[in-house]
Amino acid sequence: RDDLPDIRRKDIERHKDASTGVWMTYRDGVYDVTDFVAEHPGNKKILLAAGGAVDGFWDFYAIHHTPHVYRQLEELRIGNLHPEDAAQTPASNGSSSKAFSHEPRRAPVLQVHSARPFNAEPPSELLVDDFITPTTLFFVRNHLPVPAMVDSVTVDGVGVHRPVNMSVSEMKTRFEVITVTTAMQCAGNRRQEMDDFRSVKGLQWGSAAIGNAEWTGVRLSDVLAYAGVREGDIEHVIFQGGDSDAEGTPYEASIPAAIALDPHRDVLLAFEMNGEPLTEDHGAPCRVIVPGFIGARQVKWLRRITASRAVSESHWQRADYKIVPDSFNWAHDDISEVMPIYEYPVQSAICEPADGSSLDADEDTVVVRGYSWSGGGRGILGVDVSVDGGVTWRAARLTQTPQGVGRQWAWTLFDVEAAIPSDRRGGRLDVMCRAVDTAHNSQPGDIAAIWNQRGLLHNACHRVTVHVPE
Ligand code: HEM
Ligand code: MTE
Repeated sequence: RDDLPDIRRKDIERHKDASTGVWMTYRDGVYDVTDFVAEHPGNKKILLAAGGAVDGFWDFYAIHHTPHVYRQLEELRIGNLHPEDAAQTPASNGSSSKAFSHEPRRAPVLQVHSARPFNAEPPSELLVDDFITPTTLFFVRNHLPVPAMVDSVTVDGVGVHRPVNMSVSEMKTRFEVITVTTAMQCAGNRRQEMDDFRSVKGLQWGSAAIGNAEWTGVRLSDVLAYAGVREGDIEHVIFQGGDSDAEGTPYEASIPAAIALDPHRDVLLAFEMNGEPLTEDHGAPCRVIVPGFIGARQVKWLRRITASRAVSESHWQRADYKIVPDSFNWAHDDISEVMPIYEYPVQSAICEPADGSSLDADEDTVVVRGYSWSGGGRGILGVDVSVDGGVTWRAARLTQTPQGVGRQWAWTLFDVEAAIPSDRRGGRLDVMCRAVDTAHNSQPGDIAAIWNQRGLLHNACHRVTVHVPE
């Protein structure tokens, strides 16, 4: 960037806090991140690089190596590192190679958003071929490196009369083993569309950060009862994962006690997915499944369960996975006061035809297929599809499995075959879907109404455009 000044490393080193401004370098760029620190999605960690180079940190936090983050970084650029200093900057400290030594092999079919930590989703056209998503096609959302496998879960905290420390095989012998079919959706699913509307911060997920699987395990409510935990003693149950960051802080999240202790909510300590032991990416040997909740609360590589009066202190519970409205002022407002997201609202998305694809010339009809789901055990009453941009709608055929009122955890697939209007030949079809759940909630019509700074819970009506040959 020739228009910007050259800045010496010793000047950058003097900019370490708000009084002087916070500067840092990446490769040969110099950036002023003073105002960005408060709203950095990785919180105060960014200050570890204050006055220095981010390169070595980003070896470990490699989630930054995406065009999306580079673009946001360039908006903060104030100069170029002086050529004499640039030559001496170590590009990398190699800290990542040991941390990422437990990464498994992955199916090449997955579309990767971040290689380290691994974040990927399947092509959406393949997602709705099966009611039960094959494990190899199930999206993966890792905030941190995959940890070494440890077969031990402990239970401690408020009201625990009998501390528990058990392996998966002990769980199987001590508690009833059940299988629950539930969809799991990342709160960031469909973020890319929200970002296209107006920029948001976070991984650029398409519409396939969701899957529907059969999870086998034991009820959390049984384990808590065994440990002696009673309703009234606690407000939250905290789950700690075996994965941790460069400073040793593990992934952690919590759920309200009323959900954890209710056997009808089917919260599981799961050790199997689709009839097989959990894979490394999905939390082996044991993870939490909280049907109807966002993925972030369903802690993988589960190591510790803590009965508590307060929510987890973790970054992901207190500062992330929250709806941050446009009006939120990072300098003055307190993010820990914002309500954490738990249940998912009603959602649906078109998986076929793919956005931007072309229909076959000899077809008179188009088959529209997709998924639909709502959180909190609310089922799907119906999905309507439009092929004329929302002017007319028709009801789609639904594929769903009965699970009982208030416990409709699995997703609903939908399909409809619609005639291609003759005036669309040589033009485009504007295909839309909208779902209604059993509480008669429907999806918002446009993104503007639900836009939020982190691009979470994007459930506005999904729209794809397809070309129709002459
Ligand atoms: C996440 C930007 C420096 C640690 C993020 C995200 C952005 C970002 C946009 C969201 C990424 C995503 O979800 O796609 C920046 C910029 C930086 C910077 C512009 C400096 C100029 C740092 C440094 C560290 C760090 C120095 C660590 C020492 C993290 C962590 C996350 C994060 C831990 C959260 C990852 C997660 O929860 O998955 N950062 N970052 N960042 N960043 Fe930074
Ligand atoms: N658990 C741990 N320990 N570490 C994580 O990074 N990611 C969470 C959740 N549990 C995560 C975790 C998020 S944000 C989601 S969406 C789901 O796991 C994704 O589960 P999956 O990778 O099995 O699809």
